[in-house]
Amino acid sequence: MTQEEYIRSLFIQPDEALDHVQNSIERHGMPSISVSPESGKLLSMLVGIAGARDILEIGALGGYSGICLLRGLTADGHLTSLELKQEYADLAHENLKKAGLGDKVSYYVGEALDSLNRLEQEGKTFDFFFIDADKANYSSYMEKCIRLANRGAIIVGDNVLWSGRVYDESEQDEATQALRAFNEKMAQDKRLESLLIPIGDGLAVARVK
Ligand SMILES: C[S@@+](CC[C@H](N)C(=O)[O-])C[C@H]1O[C@@H](n2cnc3c(N)ncnc32)[C@H](O)[C@@H]1O
Repeated sequence: MTQEEYIRSLFIQPDEALDHVQNSIERHGMPSISVSPESGKLLSMLVGIAGARDILEIGALGGYSGICLLRGLTADGHLTSLELKQEYADLAHENLKKAGLGDKVSYYVGEALDSLNRLEQEGKTFDFFFIDADKANYSSYMEKCIRLANRGAIIVGDNVLWSGRVYDESEQDEATQALRAFNEKMAQDKRLESLLIPIGDGLAVARVK
């Protein structure tokens, strides 16, 4: 048994809504790249621990992380989800509705950087951010998230271990280099208190001071 299988066998229960998301992603021929069940559970817990109300997600896919984020709410709250593709945002919304969370989410479709600029112009701020889209823009997304953050907000980035490629110096492709730069920024930015948690494909977690 691997470490991941051991953790999963103890801490992850069958979940009809999340299984439905995975099945729907396969049925629609979309990539199976939702967060891992462990990372999803940690997202729910972090939202709850932070007492977050306004949540921003970058990368919706089929709604798996959206459900996990909204499940963490301890009071009334809302998820703003940014997604490049209309058909993905539509499926995510359908899945959140099926999970009883459809009225708690708004989708912004298009390039996330454009949506982030729009949110800033609208004067929106957030308590919790989940970055899980194109890796090349991770550092830019983090900078935008800091600008949109309420004091004490949490910023989480997924895939920051990139299956181990970030610490393998022979890997020099664009996504790996972008994730390395993101991790270094997370670790060194004086506005943040942060750590990399080796769960799933790696979650970077920061608190905006
Ligand atoms: C890894 S998947 C997100 C998985 C999702 N967070 C989950 O765990 O359920 C990445 C998503 O980011 C979206 N995406 C990629 N590039 C984007 C961009 N430039 N702007 C907005 N969304 C983007 C993709 O269409 C895809 O749905």
